[in-house]
Amino acid sequence: MKHLLSITDIQQDIFKILEQAEQFKKGLINGEPFKGKSLAMIFEKASTRTRVSFEVAMFQLGGTALYLSTSDLQLGRGEIIEDTARAMTRYVDGVMIRAREHQNVVKFSQYSDVPVINGLTNLEHPCQALADLLTIYEKKKTYKVHLAFVGDGNNVCNSLLLAAALVGMDLTVVGPPAYQPDPQIFKKARELAQKSGSKIQLTSNLSEGVKDADVIYTDVWISMGDEEEASQRIKDFKDYQVNENLLKHADPNAIVLHCLPAVRGQEITEEVIEGDQSAVWDQAENRLHVQKAVLYNLLDNLLEKG
Ligand code: CP
Ligand code: NVA
Repeated sequence: MKHLLSITDIQQDIFKILEQAEQFKKGLINGEPFKGKSLAMIFEKASTRTRVSFEVAMFQLGGTALYLSTSDLQLGRGEIIEDTARAMTRYVDGVMIRAREHQNVVKFSQYSDVPVINGLTNLEHPCQALADLLTIYEKKKTYKVHLAFVGDGNNVCNSLLLAAALVGMDLTVVGPPAYQPDPQIFKKARELAQKSGSKIQLTSNLSEGVKDADVIYTDVWISMGDEEEASQRIKDFKDYQVNENLLKHADPNAIVLHCLPAVRGQEITEEVIEGDQSAVWDQAENRLHVQKAVLYNLLDNLLEKG
């Protein structure tokens, strides 16, 4: 059974999935390949883009999606993951899960009869990274660019590190030393980068880290689940804001990405997110095209068939 829990789960197929996402966007893959198919979407945390893009992707391709909040499921009353997974996956063709603990999604997949897709955990956000790559490719016509990720070495940063390393993109994480990405993921990204020929780096020096960058990426300082640390984080990240001054150090044609939701005035300024260099709305749109390609490959077992 092929799952998408980490972006590395699709490392052999990443370029194929991205090409298909482009084809979906251009309307070149038609029909209703998901006719009669169902996707269960389990949400333990809030979502706008992930929920709507997966639901609409299923609908547009002829299938249906079920929005399942954990507070409405028996999971919320203590039914164990093992039992939920074995029962639920007798009904549906795929499951997308947004969960607090990555290990819980791994456990669900171990008891699932159908493909499981990570819709964000504390550790990774692989579908987001795919949409980010598609956006960068559309704007820069190559993956061989330098991306500077400014801020928190969180789930979004972790998946981006691995994704960049897989496609040969240089990535510098620029943030406070106490908020670096997951060390195992960073190590894995470096190993992958050796094969693809990209450079994966860490620095806390802002101007050095974003120097000549082609893509500036940021995410919130306070992710879902970090709310109790909010005041400390606002202090710790205050020098790592994506603003007009920071953009002066990047390449003049640099684009600015943000997975959204954004907090204007914290990790990014109003001027930058609304400015000419911002590509965040195209990036958000690309979630839809990427979800279609991910579902197309996983639900139809195309990745297993080769
Ligand atoms: N970027 C992203 O995953 O957005 P949502 O939290 O709205 O799904
Ligand atoms: N890092 C953010 C991403 C939201 C899409 C979070 O986990 O809340």
